Amino acid sequence: SSLLVLHLGRNNINNQMPHLLSSPSNLKVAILGAAGGIGQSLSLLLKTQLHYLIQANSPTNIHLSLYDINKEVIDGLYADLSHIDTPISLSAHAANDGKGGIHAALVDSDIIVIPAGMPRKPGMTRDDLFNINAKIISQLTDSIAESCDLSKVFILLISNPVNSLVPVVCNRLISHHKIDKGIEKRLLGITNLDLVRASTFLNELSPSNNGRMPYVPVIGGHSGDTIVPVFSSQSQLISTMDEPQLKHLISRVQYGGDEIVKAKNGKGSATLSMAHAACKIVTNFTNLLLGNVNSFESINYIPLLDHQNQPICKGSNELMSMIDNLQFFAIPATVTSSGVNEINYDILNHLNSYEKNELIPICLMKLKKNINSGLEFNVEEV
Ligand code: NAI
Repeated sequence: SSLLVLHLGRNNINNQMPHLLSSPSNLKVAILGAAGGIGQSLSLLLKTQLHYLIQANSPTNIHLSLYDINKEVIDGLYADLSHIDTPISLSAHAANDGKGGIHAALVDSDIIVIPAGMPRKPGMTRDDLFNINAKIISQLTDSIAESCDLSKVFILLISNPVNSLVPVVCNRLISHHKIDKGIEKRLLGITNLDLVRASTFLNELSPSNNGRMPYVPVIGGHSGDTIVPVFSSQSQLISTMDEPQLKHLISRVQYGGDEIVKAKNGKGSATLSMAHAACKIVTNFTNLLLGNVNSFESINYIPLLDHQNQPICKGSNELMSMIDNLQFFAIPATVTSSGVNEINYDILNHLNSYEKNELIPICLMKLKKNINSGLEFNVEEV
């Protein structure tokens, strides 16, 4: 018990101290859609990087579970990755593989990452993907509800359109009566690529002189005008830019995905940069669940209300009153092992007048439509 007291004391004092008592001996990360462009690159990054997070002398095993409907590619991916000399165990699963399929892929998962579904072709918006991907994601949500412990698992959704699909997953879980386990706090849409782009593009125009990449928060949603990069947070770096330059920079973050769709000329959208952005987020969650940190702050697209329309955590109500009562928004939030714990909405109080009066109103208008499409979607009618 003295260890417990010491441990709790440490937790309160220092966020970075190991969370020793609750360290699991196994951590399972499942990737649904692992055979795709993002899935393969992300699997490689996780297979080569995640073991660095295991503390010395810890008996923890990290397991990567790869799932896709494309059996041929998933088997090849597994064989290839299994020759890599890192202590991360692997398994490959496909629909109807005779070995438990998606159930075996999902059971006992701690983190589920979902890049399953169709990517954009030139001329398509993310919303054009909605019907086909909403169906795929609804079916995957059903499998998660059947196979996973919803009182602990984290669901990280990459598939587009993120703005509408996170509401689809939420609704689907409600229809399974599984939402009461607090899963809304552990359902996050991954918008980190927007932050990665904002940082990269700003650094190209105005390199910081400390050798580090600038941090630019990006809030709102993950599609065109719903993406609101908060460059005012880097006032020094943008001080040399005139208004057209700054507007161009903002637009490049909002429509950066189109540059890749166009360059790939019909062969898909961002895969490598997306895998990098997702790897950063999965690393945060792995660190958290291994007990290396007790919490972290990151920006993800999250539900603000639970299934009974109650605020999911501290800060939900305040944020909703600032964003026209929208139920989903990408915003900085503190995450603990039980999920999103506190929404740090203060960023909205520090926007400059252009961000506040021009970018946010357009974001809210479009995001509302995207959210409604998601909430109204019914897979049985497709
Ligand atoms: P891809 O076509 O290369 O891969 C998709 C994979 O999903 C394929 O292997 C396919 O077999 C698999 N799949 C389809 N239905 C499935 C099901 N029911 N269960 C399991 N797997 C299934 O596409 P890519 O480039 O990897 O993109 C995946 C998704 O990620 C797209 O929707 C894309 O728009 C989105 N995306 C999201 C970004 C973000 O910032 N959140 C950035 C870039 C892409």
